[in-house]
Amino acid sequence: MIWIPRRLSDATLERARRDYEVICKEDDTPGAAEEIVAMSEKVDGMVPCHSEHFSADVVARLDPRLKIVANHSVGTDHCDLKALRSRGIAVTNTPGVLADATAELAFMLMLSAARHGVAGDRIVRSGDWDFWSPAFLVGKQVTGARLGIVGMGGVGRSLARKARGFDMEIHYHNRRRLEADQEAGAIYHDTIDSLLTVSDFLSLNCPATPETEGMMNAERLAQMPKGGVLVNAARGSLVDEAALVDAVRSGHLAAAGLDCFRKEPGGNPGFAEHDNIVMMPHVGSATVRTRDAMGFKALDNLDAFFAGREPPDML
Ligand code: DGY
Repeated sequence: MIWIPRRLSDATLERARRDYEVICKEDDTPGAAEEIVAMSEKVDGMVPCHSEHFSADVVARLDPRLKIVANHSVGTDHCDLKALRSRGIAVTNTPGVLADATAELAFMLMLSAARHGVAGDRIVRSGDWDFWSPAFLVGKQVTGARLGIVGMGGVGRSLARKARGFDMEIHYHNRRRLEADQEAGAIYHDTIDSLLTVSDFLSLNCPATPETEGMMNAERLAQMPKGGVLVNAARGSLVDEAALVDAVRSGHLAAAGLDCFRKEPGGNPGFAEHDNIVMMPHVGSATVRTRDAMGFKALDNLDAFFAGREPPDML
């Protein structure tokens, strides 16, 4: 028996129901702590999203019946992995299938932030477009600019491939330098601080960990070139949001593009006052193809586990 708390893709649910007895949470709202704990008495596996939080407290209260948490996400910051492992519960994620969709969204945010996507759309949509001038909504050119990427995993590398099509000069920081074939001409910086100074556009593509919490603080934002653009399609916790508002308000940053926020769902009303902050509601991986691939990967992991094999994406 497995529990699927969120509305996964039709193809995923069809396959899950074909192969397992499934309890679905029909209202498609986040599984609360009490619900997760109660459900652990009824199921052997769960397929949660990043909206279900397996904190140490929740994990301590899980029923021994639960054997595997097969996440429908690549990020695992919603899970206390140490606590789950110490309870002997297997944990998996869905790496390798979200990269292109998430990089597309990061690119969309970058272009939209650079070219006044919010203001332009609003002016035309509202019917108030009664003026044009060569000085109207003049933006920042992406083609040929320097792009700094923090985190050269799958998303970072996919973003770099797309950026090459825009003749961008690619710089990156990663825990370790990539092999030359993966680097493909991108310039490695062994510190974030060195990367920031050359990043006309900066894209965050690293996981949320205790080390990256609040990484983009006031000091770091100040190190970006004046008129820089910050893009975050990774996790809200990477950014000090008050410092970002200040950097945009002061004009030090020209714009920002955000798919992730410290408070989700909800976002930060402080950002909404600024047309040059483009926002999306954490939908980087939300394409039909990628949702199917994520769901199938989660099920592949369950299948391997219940067949007595090591799941391919065991953490
Ligand atoms: C992930 O997979 O981590 C994405 O943020 C969607 O949950």
